[in-house]
This record gives sequence, structure tokens and C-alpha cells, in this order.
Amino acid sequence: MSNKKFYITTPIYYPSGNPHIGHCYTTVACDSIARYKRMQGYDVMFLTGTDEHGQKIEEKAAEKGVTPKEYVDDIVRIFKNLWSYMNISYDRYIRTTDDYHVEAVQKIFRTLYDKGYIYKGEYKGKYCTPCESFWTESQLDENGCCPECHREVKEAREEAYFFKMSPFADRIEKLLLETDYLRPKTRAVELVNNFIKPGLEDLCVSRTSFKWGIPVDFDDKHVVYVWIDALSNYITALGYNNSAYNDYDKFWPADVHMVAKDIMRFHAIIWPAMLMALDLPLPKHLAVHGWITFNGQKMSKSLGNVVDPLVLGERYGCDAIRYHILREMALGADSSFSNKIMIDRINSDLANDLGNLVSRTVAMVIKYFDGTLPEEREAEPIDGELISMAEALRGNVDKFVDETQLNNALAEIFKVISRANKYIDETAPWVLAKDEAKKPRLAAVLYNLLESIRISTTLLSCFMPATMPKVWEQIGADESVINYEAAGKFGVLPANVTVKKGEVLFPRLDIEKETEELNNIILKNAPAPTEDTDKANLVPIADTIKIDDFGKVDLRVAEVKACEKVPKAKKLLCLQLDDGFGTRQVVSGIAKWYAPEDLIGKKLIVVANLAPATLCGVESNGMIVAADVDDAAKVIFVDKDIPNGAKLR
Ligand code: ME8
Repeated sequence: MSNKKFYITTPIYYPSGNPHIGHCYTTVACDSIARYKRMQGYDVMFLTGTDEHGQKIEEKAAEKGVTPKEYVDDIVRIFKNLWSYMNISYDRYIRTTDDYHVEAVQKIFRTLYDKGYIYKGEYKGKYCTPCESFWTESQLDENGCCPECHREVKEAREEAYFFKMSPFADRIEKLLLETDYLRPKTRAVELVNNFIKPGLEDLCVSRTSFKWGIPVDFDDKHVVYVWIDALSNYITALGYNNSAYNDYDKFWPADVHMVAKDIMRFHAIIWPAMLMALDLPLPKHLAVHGWITFNGQKMSKSLGNVVDPLVLGERYGCDAIRYHILREMALGADSSFSNKIMIDRINSDLANDLGNLVSRTVAMVIKYFDGTLPEEREAEPIDGELISMAEALRGNVDKFVDETQLNNALAEIFKVISRANKYIDETAPWVLAKDEAKKPRLAAVLYNLLESIRISTTLLSCFMPATMPKVWEQIGADESVINYEAAGKFGVLPANVTVKKGEVLFPRLDIEKETEELNNIILKNAPAPTEDTDKANLVPIADTIKIDDFGKVDLRVAEVKACEKVPKAKKLLCLQLDDGFGTRQVVSGIAKWYAPEDLIGKKLIVVANLAPATLCGVESNGMIVAADVDDAAKVIFVDKDIPNGAKLR
């Protein structure tokens, strides 16, 4: 076995609903990197799994009348089926309900307690009785109510254990600012300013209000709460503090943890603190990507905008889906999922660029040479650019894979594919074919095309593993020329290579027809937002009012002329609005979701006849209309051509 080791992890997902394209992104990205590293000769450990404890799961199981374990067993089956369908080559799958993990987490908890990093205290928070949930001040909605059901919360206390974070603040700040742990690094400053500079708060790590969790073994009234249980998976799955596996020494520290931005803070601050407290080495990189959004919103079950990867896969093949999500997502930024963009990509990159390159090249070798190239070839200077691009490709892809920039790795591969297509136009093989004396030149052109295809598809196979073997069959490439070593060299296929006509790799799609059909399928398949527990996320519809009551609320369209943060009020933005009559100042609790520059120039709706109020010392004349979506406020923007001051009715 190789002595080069590589350990990569996805988050462990909550099995609280079926997986969607958003979950697929992290898993497909890690899978592609794992495959690439294996191809490079690394001994790879690729870990994924499910995070199965907690109050939500306990409640969902109760609603269904099954035990929490039965409930998660069912969903884990669905996750594993999807991963198998998507060709996810994980080496290990951890379930936090596995005995070895439970045992190891209990030991970790006890060790942290014995070392004095965990202490018993009192959890003080805002408690919502109907939701049976504690909230921190900053989680409350803008009226200071429960962010889930928007009812009143009350001050409450519960005995709980806490993890001391402050001893690690300096080391974590250095880790974030002075090393390349966090990718993209641009996020480090925001983390340090928001969480470390104001003083790292101790973390509540146990609960007594529900039972579905790992019991604290020296105080079994408590269960371990979320992060000590969940984050530890990255080491328990290797055998840390348990005897189920023996891979800890070999694979820890991890090379890459990949997560989306919603859980960046836990991986950038809490996880390093836990490892520091346990005296364990820190992982090398944390790669943070954005969300896959659908029409600008995070894809989520409660919005009913969940795209089912199996539905898409059945229509277009799992490789087309893998390609689309990998290609659209730039590290750190959100990426928008749209049926149209996906179908465009399938047509332009996969059917036109890659598919046509392969089918045209193979067809020409068959037409002009009966499928087998002659050994005699004649090079020309024009070949140089294509050959050098193909030869440099492996190095370029290596770099982007190492930097977890998979969209750029794919872009490099498709540059060579496009260059090869252009080379066909430049060399015009059909003209060469008319002249017997040009046969050696024609053979060289076709050979160069086959080699470009071989190199690019070898590298592409890590991202799209199902389709590339079909290409290799067509271009007459066997295992001896499909490997990492050979992908770095041009001229590896035998001179007298024989090709074989094969099936169309990616049929061209009719954009309009497909987009329409797909939209219908997705609408039909999306769980209705009012179904089962998703209902719990929706605020119940209020009591009926008369039209006159509605008439009392004066809603107007207004344009944001200026906007700034309210000093010393983290949640508040102060907006200057043109409401058609003049400038009005409105203070709004949306600073958590919008930066001032996101709003300036936009048109929105304001409750114009609301009595003035003073918020944190700043006068506010009106209220911005926003929708509650997954604990966030989404401002309702309106069309630019509606004049300022227009009244809503
Ligand atoms: O947070 N776009 O689990 P989770 C992109 N159990 N990625 C998305 C996404 C979207 N719309 N939706 C989900 C948890 N993801 C914890 C993690 S780790 C020790 C514990 C992906 O099921 C993304 O990787 O809510 C995100 O970080 C992860 O799913 C969260 O999954």
C-alpha cells in the first residue's frame, strides 16, 4: 500500500427528511476529490454518514408513531441508496447511533470534564413553551419572539454542562488568520470579528429536556447535545476511543473537511477548540462552500423547492447531475440551481463539446481508416498548442483539486475539449481525406484528437465516473493507458489504435420542452409545504379580518436611497427610503441577512402608516415587509418600474 494518505469528510447529515441536490453537492464534491486522490496513488479514507440524535428526530419519530431508531433507519436507507445511485465511493459510513461512536463520545465528554474544560452550570435562555425549545437572544425574531412559531418566549433556566471555549481563543484566531485552514480565507476575518473578538462564549453541550441523545455516563439525566456528538464523528469513525476501527494513527489529522456555510462556524471554531482541549492535532483544511439555491432561496423542504436528485438522474443520468452541480458551484459562493441552466450545460458542454468531439473523432477514424490508424504520421506546428495544453492539463487539474476548486478543475478540462474541437475546424480532416498523399497528416490529426480525449476523460472520470469508461471503449484505450501517470503524457495510445463506434454519450435535449416537463415533475414531486412536520415551520394563518381592517394598513413601494448599520445594534439597519413623498427613515432588524450594499437601489414595500418608534436610539418611521424563511427574513423586493409611493391593495 502507498504511504501517501488522504482523509476527506462530508458533514454527517441529519436524517430528518429525504436528501436533496443540496446534500448531493458536498458528497459529490468529496467523492470527486477522493477518486482523484486514489488515482494519484493515495491511500484514501472518504467518510460520510448521518447525525441521528436530537429533539427534532425524537419529535418526528413520535409523530409517525415509531421509535427514533426506526425513524432514522428508514431515512438512512434512502441516503445510502442515493449515494449508491450517484456513484459515491465512500470508504466508511458513520451513524452516530453506532455503538462504537456512542462509547467514544461518552469517553470524550468525560475526558473534557476531567480536564476541567466541561463544567456544570445553568442554561439560561428564552424558552418557547409550544415549541419546547430554548433560544438565545440573537436567535429571536425581530419582535423578540420565537423564531419558529413567533409566539412569546419566556426567561427560563435548565441545568446543563458547558464547554469552556475562551482558553482557545488566541490559538483559534491564529489558526483562522495565519494559516490556510479555512477556505476561502476571506471568511476568516468575519469569523474572528463576530465570534472571537467579542469574547468566545462557552458552549452548552448537554440537555435534560429530551432523551434521544448519547447519555452523559456520569450524569444520566443529561444527554450530550449536538456538537460534541456530531463533530467527534470525524475521529471516532477512525477508531479514536473505540476498538471498532484502527485507523486513527494512519489517517488523522484529516486533509479536508468540506461543509456548507451554515455550519462553518462550528467547524472553524468549536471543532478546533475541542481538538485543542483533547490535545489532538488539527485538521489541515476546512473547505466551505455556499448553498445551492433555487430561484434565489436556499433549497429546503419547508419551501417546497427541493429538487429530487433521483428524478433528475433518471432523466439525464447521474453524471450529468454531478457535472452540473460541480461546475456551477464556486468555492465560498452560493450557486443557483435552475432547470434551464442544467439543460443548457448538458447541451453545450456534454452533448456538443464532449459528446461531439468523441463521436466525430471516432467516426472519422472509422470513415477514413476503417477504424484503425496507420502508424505513419506527419506532425505540423499547428499541433503544438493542443498538445501542450493537453500535457499541461493534469498539473492544472491537480492544483485546483488540491485547492478544492472543482468548478475550475472542470473548466480546465473543458478548455482542452473545446481546443480539440477548434483543432478539428482548423485542420479540416475532411479536406485532408480527399488527398491520398495527406493520409499521414490526417492520421496525425486524428491521433492528436484521440490523445486529447484520452487525457481529458481520464481526469474527468473522477468527476463523472459512470460515462468515461464508455468513451475509453470507443477510443480503444484500455487500463494501461488510463491512469494518472499516463494522463500526464501525450502520445501514449498505440500508433495503430483501433476505435469502435459506440452509443451517443449525452443526447441533445430540447430546452423548452425539457424545462417545462422538468418544472412539472419537480412541482409534482416536491413535498407539499404543508405536509407533516414542515407545517411546524409555518406560522398558522391568523384569524379572518374584514377588508376595512386590511385597508387600515398603508403599504407603499419605496426605494432604498441609503442604508447603514446602526452602531452597537448588531441586528439593525437604518434605511433612508424614497416613498414618493420624500425621504423617510426606517430601522429594520435584518442586518443578519443583508449588508447595506445589498439593499441600496432596490425597491421594497414599507408599512407607511405605522406609528413611529425608537429602536436603539434611532427613530423609525414604518416597517419593511419581509417573509420568514427558515429562520431568516427575506425582504420582498418589487419591480423597478413600479413608481415610488405606489399604494398596495
Ligand atoms: O448541519 N446547498 O446536517 P444537515 C448546499 N448534522 N449544501 C447543502 C444544502 C444546500 N441547499 N443543504 C444542505 C448538519 N447542504 C449537521 C452537520 S457535521 C459534524 C454535522 C449540505 O443535514 C451542506 O454540506 O443540515 C451542509 O453543510 C450540510 O448539508 C448540512 O446538512
